Amino acid sequence: MSNYHIKHLEEYYKVYRKSVREPEVFWEEIAEEHFSWHKKWDKVLEWDFKKPEIKWYQGAKLNITENCIDRHLRTKGDKVAILFEPNNPEEEAQHITYHQLHERVNKFANVLKNEGIKKGDRVCIYLPMIPELAVSLLACARIGAIHSVVFAGFSATALSTRINDSDCKVVITSDGSFRGNKTIDLKGIVDEALEDCPGVHSVLVVNRIDSEITMKEGRDKLLQPLLDNASSHCEPEIMDAEDPLFILYTSGSTGKPKGMVHTTAGYMVYTAYTFKNVFNYKDDDIYWCTADIGWITGHSYIVYGPLANGATTVMFEGVPSHPDYGRFWEVVEKHKITQFYTAPTAIRALAKEKLEYIDKYDLSSLKVLGSVGEPINEEAWHWYNDNIGKKKSPIVDTWWQTETGGILISPIPYVTPTIPTYATLPLPGIQPCLMDENGEEIKGKQVDGRLCIKYPWPSIARTIWGNHQRYKETYFSTYENNYFTGDGALRDTVGYYRITGRVDDVIIVSGHNLGTAPIEDAINEHPAVAESAIVGFPHDVKGNALYGYVILKETGEGRLHENLRKEINQMITEHIGPIAKLDKIQFTPGLPKTRSGKIMRRILRKIACNETDNLGDTSTLLNPEVVQTIIDNSF
Ligand code: WT7
Repeated sequence: MSNYHIKHLEEYYKVYRKSVREPEVFWEEIAEEHFSWHKKWDKVLEWDFKKPEIKWYQGAKLNITENCIDRHLRTKGDKVAILFEPNNPEEEAQHITYHQLHERVNKFANVLKNEGIKKGDRVCIYLPMIPELAVSLLACARIGAIHSVVFAGFSATALSTRINDSDCKVVITSDGSFRGNKTIDLKGIVDEALEDCPGVHSVLVVNRIDSEITMKEGRDKLLQPLLDNASSHCEPEIMDAEDPLFILYTSGSTGKPKGMVHTTAGYMVYTAYTFKNVFNYKDDDIYWCTADIGWITGHSYIVYGPLANGATTVMFEGVPSHPDYGRFWEVVEKHKITQFYTAPTAIRALAKEKLEYIDKYDLSSLKVLGSVGEPINEEAWHWYNDNIGKKKSPIVDTWWQTETGGILISPIPYVTPTIPTYATLPLPGIQPCLMDENGEEIKGKQVDGRLCIKYPWPSIARTIWGNHQRYKETYFSTYENNYFTGDGALRDTVGYYRITGRVDDVIIVSGHNLGTAPIEDAINEHPAVAESAIVGFPHDVKGNALYGYVILKETGEGRLHENLRKEINQMITEHIGPIAKLDKIQFTPGLPKTRSGKIMRRILRKIACNETDNLGDTSTLLNPEVVQTIIDNSF
């Protein structure tokens, strides 16, 4: 018998030890007992971090939608699978049962088939947080198509880059979206993006906001009439364990986003197992994760993990501030939410508002609170614990990444004693280690270093779409035989991990992972800009904000710097999206460079953080004199 649900600390240690000693037995038992397979695997794990190559449950045959939907029908057909809470609180919530979800996914899958989509084809999904978003992921998975969801806050340029990188044939979108009291013209953005995407032959459009849109003849189709005419029976495509399930882009240290490829069986097993344990999920719970399905958090812990457990998962279309700052708590009371999973940036934003917004509502249904996306600072942790959890709901500070597919380090609620700012212990199957700058493992307690994982877990991304070499270089070359996370961490005396933040050129702004290179590339497109460098600095709500140092081509008199600042941010909005806008832009005659021409970001970071007392050695710079000029003109 596997220990699918860990209930006390001693059991955690026992299970953890087993998962390290006999990883294959451990993951085999879980896969065997909790999922349905058309054929079992021949081999649980085959791996080589040098190549790198990782294969879980090789030889197994399955379809993930049968595990997420069909197998629940007999016992839970009338249970709510997806609970949709619209942007407008006056609009009625939708309760979609497992039976209804089954029908909707089957119909949608048939529509995709009729569009000529078959196993292995890529489908781009650019939708707001409406039920069709979850349904479209599952419809792709039903027929073995690979979904590539692009967060609907990304710009047309970002969208077209992603569509082209993975050669998507179809785009699923909506006329527009509601966000707070605004509407966004998503179809307009898709139209603009598709000017650069010759490979897309059809666009399926959901009607969400009833706006006037232009439909391109032969390419664009309204989804609803197609669904109405589609059969509600679609035989699931039988997939190999290692067939790709989806691609999800994440930013990296070069301009091009990385299309992380997740495969079927291992991803399913790991997200389901971690969902059960990290959220202490029980049958009658109503689980709410506030993330967008456009990010990995939504894929793994709104859609696949919860549905694989037959859970009720909430999808929220709106924002925490609309119609007022009580919205989250109103929804918690209304739907009697038991698990609430959100990001530190949202917690910090809400903590600035009056407590009356909370006190109006009954939050007594809550049992577990979650945090994800960036380190949660002590103040925010306590605010969350005191005011939302009323000191009764454990907080799970879940550390993971797009690349890891599921949560790797996290407390197990009611099992692991929590400490603010600590993600605490590795989940079963996860073998973290800390490395020093020379590539040696740092053993022992009360140490810090660069966080790596020594051994594969089932939901690790298998490659970068179309670029296995980049996958190898980014994750497996810094420390031989280890997966390098890009994060720094410390390990305390009891073996708890505390994540200290990125050690590379990625900056986490409001929980969004932003590479500096793509932003710099966008700025440099501005005709007046010669060169730029972006660094992060602390921000009380966003966690980090962006500070840009920009060299202009001409520093002539009377240049309208304020206008230029606006134009630079406009450039970023067009190329990436508003999430990557800069808070501060400093024009500078030069940037500190090493003799080999590399920008010394360490110095720029210190200046942006106002830590200029201790800049370290600047004598090796090519242009040490520029440092003082930058300090003198900094914000
Ligand atoms: C990076 C990954 C995982 C889903 C959302 C983000 C940071 C994430 C935590 C946490 C400290 C965290 C790391 C990581 N991060 N969770 N609990 N504590 N840092 O996915 O966009 O791929 O970003 O987010 O720096 O490497 P992502």
